[in-house]
Amino acid sequence: MSQAENIPQPENGFYVLVTGANSGLGLGIGTRLIDEFLQTRPQTESLVLIITTRDQRKGDATIARLQEHLRKVCKNHERTLPGISRVLQQRVHFRQERLDLLSLLSVQRLSKRLRDTTPKLDVVICNAGIGGWTGINWPLAIWSIVTTWRKALSYPTFKISGIGWVAKPQIAADKEVEEPALGEVFCANNFGHYLLGHYVAPLLARHPPSEDTRGRIIWISSLEAYDFTFDIEDMQGIGSRVPYESSKRLTDIMAITSALPTTSKAVDQYLEASGPSEKTTKPRIYVSHPGICGTSIVPLPLILEYLMFAAFYLARWLGSQWHCVTVEKGAVAMVWLALAKQSTLDSMERKEGVGKWGSATDFWGQERVERSEVAGWGWGGKVGEHKRKGRDPYAQDLTKESQDKFVESGKKCWEDMEQLRLEWEHRLRQAGVSIEMH
Ligand SMILES: NC(=O)c1ccc[n+]([C@@H]2O[C@H](COP(=O)([O-])OP(=O)(O)OC[C@H]3O[C@@H](n4cnc5c(N)ncnc54)[C@H](OP(=O)(O)O)[C@@H]3O)[C@@H](O)[C@H]2O)c1
Repeated sequence: MSQAENIPQPENGFYVLVTGANSGLGLGIGTRLIDEFLQTRPQTESLVLIITTRDQRKGDATIARLQEHLRKVCKNHERTLPGISRVLQQRVHFRQERLDLLSLLSVQRLSKRLRDTTPKLDVVICNAGIGGWTGINWPLAIWSIVTTWRKALSYPTFKISGIGWVAKPQIAADKEVEEPALGEVFCANNFGHYLLGHYVAPLLARHPPSEDTRGRIIWISSLEAYDFTFDIEDMQGIGSRVPYESSKRLTDIMAITSALPTTSKAVDQYLEASGPSEKTTKPRIYVSHPGICGTSIVPLPLILEYLMFAAFYLARWLGSQWHCVTVEKGAVAMVWLALAKQSTLDSMERKEGVGKWGSATDFWGQERVERSEVAGWGWGGKVGEHKRKGRDPYAQDLTKESQDKFVESGKKCWEDMEQLRLEWEHRLRQAGVSIEMH
């Protein structure tokens, strides 16, 4: 049986890969994508939603939940337009795959499978991630929530991080290939996705320049991607007291600078073999964040989970635009980035610069996409630009010096990541375990 059998390949398919789709934001992205795709795309187009989970059980459960959601959406449409349900059902195809971002071989295995069985990819949403926290400093949490309510719930300082965590070895001990430590949070939140993006870049590139679209890699960052959490000499955050925040700052730096001429050598190498040519266009990397949503990324007992949701709603009603609270609302920025026309994104960037796209809501919970400030870049990389709402407590106005520093660190991060990728690929090959793509 060929590998492509049982794998949906509809004509005029729009292929979206979402990692870590079985819970939290990943599930919200899946359901929102179905809703918006069916509402905004012509009837001739079909969505192929490829979800990844760490095991089959989670994959089956996720597909079942997405199918249930699709049934509900179709039922609602059927009420206004009898007969439409069948048409809509046929426009959404599901496929599940395995991915463990802490195993580089798992990333290679999935990439090879995608390259062997998928005609193209339109969007890869790098959603999966871990916090790497061991608990909550409760006295500090209570004190800061009581004294600085909104700040404490938007920019918490009370999560306790595991320090020095490293991923399990990638190569079996009997292979006698020495391997250096790989920061666990870094590997799950940055490096695993980074490799995935590199290997699937040729699939993302399969868009002729004449189409109003380009393959897109969407990285997920956070409001907590503060400048001071990141040390360029410890890119993997192994010595960091806040490895999660460090991983998200790295995400911001690399995504924003990926569009600048200073990084083009490393970025071109990263997206190698992906064009441009008559049939291909170089993919783009975008960065987004979901605001603040109630998910199990910070595991809490049920009663505290209820309290967390109550506190999040209160923060929204007291004026915090970032409290999306539910994952469906938190997914608005990622789904917009996935479905927007290329000409729309390009013209927004031409006018206001490259940006970090966040999910926000108003008092009533009406969600929208908002640019988010990035230290050393501002909202669009323009010194003196008009200031917006939702700044973090450490925000400083953009200066020429801080911007130069940001751009310079972007260049170094791209060079260091490329070097790390090449070193790991070499190591896996040397151990005889690497999965070759061709
Ligand atoms: N919730 C928020 O307010 C918030 C705010 C800012 C940013 N984010 C970002 O949003 C993304 C999703 O977070 P969430 O809040 O939805 O958390 P979540 O509910 O814990 O979901 C995390 C997802 O990542 C998967 N995952 C974890 N480790 C993995 C690995 N090694 N390999 C493959 N998949 C792995 C999980 O799968 P398992 O079920 O198998 O563990 C799960 O599907 C993350 O990147 C997070 O940093 C969330």
